[in-house]
Amino acid sequence: MPVTAIVGAQWGDEGKGRVVDYLAQDADMVIRYQGGDNAGHTVMNEHGTFRLHHIPSGIFNPHTINIIGTGCVVNPDTLLEELAELEAAGVRTDNLLLSARAHVTMPYHRLLDGLRERARGGKAIGTTKRGIGPVYSHKAARVGIRLGELAYPDRVRARLAVVLPLVNHELEIYGEPPISEDEIMSKVAHWQERLGDRIVDTLPIIRQAIQADRKVLLEGQLGVMRDLDWGIYPYVTSSNPLASFAAVGAGFPARYLTRIIGVVKAYSTAVGAGPLPTELKDETGDRLREAGQEYGATTGRPRRCGWFDGVAIRYAAWLHGFTEIAVTKLDVLDEFPEIKLCVAYRLPDGSLTEDVPDVPLLEQVEPVYETWPGWITSTRAARRWEDLPENARRYLKRIEELAGAPIRFVSVGPRREEIVRIPAP
Ligand code: GDP
Ligand code: IMO
Ligand code: MG
Repeated sequence: MPVTAIVGAQWGDEGKGRVVDYLAQDADMVIRYQGGDNAGHTVMNEHGTFRLHHIPSGIFNPHTINIIGTGCVVNPDTLLEELAELEAAGVRTDNLLLSARAHVTMPYHRLLDGLRERARGGKAIGTTKRGIGPVYSHKAARVGIRLGELAYPDRVRARLAVVLPLVNHELEIYGEPPISEDEIMSKVAHWQERLGDRIVDTLPIIRQAIQADRKVLLEGQLGVMRDLDWGIYPYVTSSNPLASFAAVGAGFPARYLTRIIGVVKAYSTAVGAGPLPTELKDETGDRLREAGQEYGATTGRPRRCGWFDGVAIRYAAWLHGFTEIAVTKLDVLDEFPEIKLCVAYRLPDGSLTEDVPDVPLLEQVEPVYETWPGWITSTRAARRWEDLPENARRYLKRIEELAGAPIRFVSVGPRREEIVRIPAP
């Protein structure tokens, strides 16, 4: 049984949650390996519609162990809210565990995220303001607090003695009042009381599952183009969505990760700043946004929309190492008479490239398009490859060619069952 990663191929919001919910119907374990509550993974199934920020999308299957892994950052307040929402909808949550080694997103991280964004003015990253940059930078600076430390108030106090003066100094620069240790410590006690039982050493649990050949899924957050190292720096997140990081973030040897499903939206979207070469700032872009209901799952912001970017997909295919892909939101293109697909970028000197250059050049590229005929037929009811219109199949085959990996799933609607499954030959 291969360990399987389900990862974002583009700028995030590809439909990872939807694909994981589908695949988790018979999974033993689903692990989030990076990111925090900046994620917004939408799941629509028989329990209702949910936007999961922290909790893995396998939570709806009571037989699946869901783990928030070591590479993640956890805001206990928003996690508790999310647990309450699920429980109110009748979803059992006793199958959720948290790695004691994951870092805690503190109230001051969220505060600093917002203030730093404000200070960046016109150069803002457009973050989700969930504290992601500040908490991961404290992790790297070794002044972070891990979930497992919530059980040791003295250790937390000692760490706060180092970190709060730094935080308060920065707050003073922004003209904000300081944060007191007591304020944080009362939260720490509350979090430990509410979440303590779920905070465990996840390593033996994951090791045993893999050694027993269980079906283990890794749920990526965001996509390649916002990866800290390989994305459009500085308009990136502060973790690594790349599939290879799943081994680090969850805690298993990389050689087990042999199935990598790239989740590929049939067109492009992004929230936040930074280059999106195929962006359409016109009526077609607005049409894509309305047809695809492209509004941020976490912040509600309208998403920037554009045609499919085959150059970015080739980049993602190499960096993630797709063994297969799941194309999502095909139905959104149902009413477009013509569909464009970018196959190269024209650089400022007039030459063409099929590689993604770094940001200074990427900001100046012009997409080179192929035009494909649409199908003007609803695909929502398709469940087999043969059910899809001929022109839709052709368009998908072109995406498959650019991704260099077979399409195994085509999502034609947001609901769990609205999917075409293409069995391996
Ligand atoms: P994620 O962050 O990658 O999990 O994706 P999001 O949940 O942020 O964004 C995907 C959006 O598209 C959500 O609103 C989903 O309900 C919706 N969605 C997913 N797959 C499909 C599909 O095949 N068709 C349509 N129309 N909507 C879809
Ligand atoms: P999912 O998992 C789309 C974007 C933000 C911003 C940049 C950095 O649902 O695909 P951050 O808050 O992480 O410091 O923001 O990344 N961003 C996302 N965009 N989907 C997400 O998650 C995102 N998480 C962060 O808009 O541009
Ligand atoms: Mg999302």
